[in-house]
Amino acid sequence: MKFFIDTANIEEIRKANELKILDGITTNPTLIAKTGKPFMEVVKEILNEVPDKPVSLEVASTDYEGMLREAEQLAKLGDNVVIKIPITIDGLKAVKYLEYNGVKTNVTLIFSPMQALLAMKAGASYISPFVGRLDDISHTGMELISQIKTIRDNYGYNSQIIIASVRNPLHVLEGALVGADIATIPYKVISQLIKHPLTDIGLERFLKDWENVPEKPF
Ligand code: G3P
Repeated sequence: MKFFIDTANIEEIRKANELKILDGITTNPTLIAKTGKPFMEVVKEILNEVPDKPVSLEVASTDYEGMLREAEQLAKLGDNVVIKIPITIDGLKAVKYLEYNGVKTNVTLIFSPMQALLAMKAGASYISPFVGRLDDISHTGMELISQIKTIRDNYGYNSQIIIASVRNPLHVLEGALVGADIATIPYKVISQLIKHPLTDIGLERFLKDWENVPEKPF
């Protein structure tokens, strides 16, 4: 399973990257706005930090021409740039065009299996179903991941499924059990994944008992 980090915060990206388990980055306009920095400054910082991993950057236009114009500008910034496009009619057309011309896309704001099917048919490299936002309105987000995976595998589409809108470690666990390709995870949840109270207690005991070991070589 690949781990992406869902943030535009460069400190969080650096900390996650130091763990050596980071496979990519996803951003969106909300995450970029949270940094309070100019768009291009944030994007260049991120691309500089991770020049070799996919970085999803979202277009702000909603019309086909506008999306392509922005995608062209963003794609020039690095070979690892992935253009994030919302699932709309214009978005689908843009995905088809960009993928045909060798630019990778990540179709975002997916909330139904049929939206995912369309994105996969258009040839998206990545699709991002939002589990947390579905859970928020009393739908089981993970069912969507499972249905999309079944459809993808039934027909052999090449799109990688990214669990997006991840809110807690259970989303990562359930996504892994379902067999999602990627989870894009906020830094807070990445840190929660490593923690277990029994690990802390066990380590404390080992350290204490180590004191009683005679003639320690180190
Ligand atoms: O990047 C898209 C997605 O992960 C957003 O998550 O928490 O705003 O629903 P959230």
